[in-house]
Amino acid sequence: MTELLDFTALFGDLVPSRPVEHLGNSDLSFGGKIEPPLKVHEDGGENGCGGKVWIAGELLCDYLIEKSNTEGILSMSKDKLNVEEPFCNILELGSGTGLVGLCAGFLARSKEIDAKVYTTDIEKLLELMDANVRLNNLDQFVFPEILMWGQPLTGKFEADAKKKIDLILAADCVYLETAFPLLEKTLLDLTEGSNPPTVLMSYKKRRKADKNFFRQIRKNFVVVTIKDFARYEHYLKQRTHLFQMIRIQN
Ligand SMILES: C[S@@+](CC[C@H](N)C(=O)[O-])C[C@H]1O[C@@H](n2cnc3c(N)ncnc32)[C@H](O)[C@@H]1O
Repeated sequence: MTELLDFTALFGDLVPSRPVEHLGNSDLSFGGKIEPPLKVHEDGGENGCGGKVWIAGELLCDYLIEKSNTEGILSMSKDKLNVEEPFCNILELGSGTGLVGLCAGFLARSKEIDAKVYTTDIEKLLELMDANVRLNNLDQFVFPEILMWGQPLTGKFEADAKKKIDLILAADCVYLETAFPLLEKTLLDLTEGSNPPTVLMSYKKRRKADKNFFRQIRKNFVVVTIKDFARYEHYLKQRTHLFQMIRIQN
């Protein structure tokens, strides 16, 4: 046992994360708050890690559900997040199955909120995101697209687009060290200029190297931990956190 502990302490960064956190086919009603429950098809990993549901995605869904009402997505958090207008142009990065975006789209539909949600990921996951949108009949609200971190933004995702993105969601996107600079570049590009979008990031702490991402990102963002939600302690026990990332204006 001691040997195992020592190995993990020394080489924890080399141990791949285990696929134990996903919800699989379990209840996606979030304690009965989403009815009918969301349906999510998982692809068994054939297109990378995004093809299953991750716990940080579950956290972000819980937060969206708790803080949204008929006035808008996250309306009940407006003061906390320091925003005035309701969010209506939402972009999710690294959506994988699209669960978080589906949840936001579901809330928009059920509460009759005028909001569009763009779920995005690498090209290989486009089909899975599309399939999950259709499975939940959310094609009027959720729009899957390709968005590769690190690449120049195009069209509606550009920071100076006419109807620009006002809320960015990212669940479990800090997990692969080689992708840290790419994710950082995309976050910087998306929050360029005055009046940047609100950024919410949920994150499960797994590897020591993750701190390199947060050290670097703090050069341009203030990272505020959000604790005021019902299942905060539940997620804390699983080392899963929610942050608002506020772009520092230079
Ligand atoms: C751990 S998964 C999280 C999936 C989903 N957000 C969730 O919480 O269930 C990380 C996601 O980031 C995506 N990703 C990784 N590198 C990327 C890149 N360079 N550009 C766009 N997406 C990327 C992966 O394809 C994957 O879907």
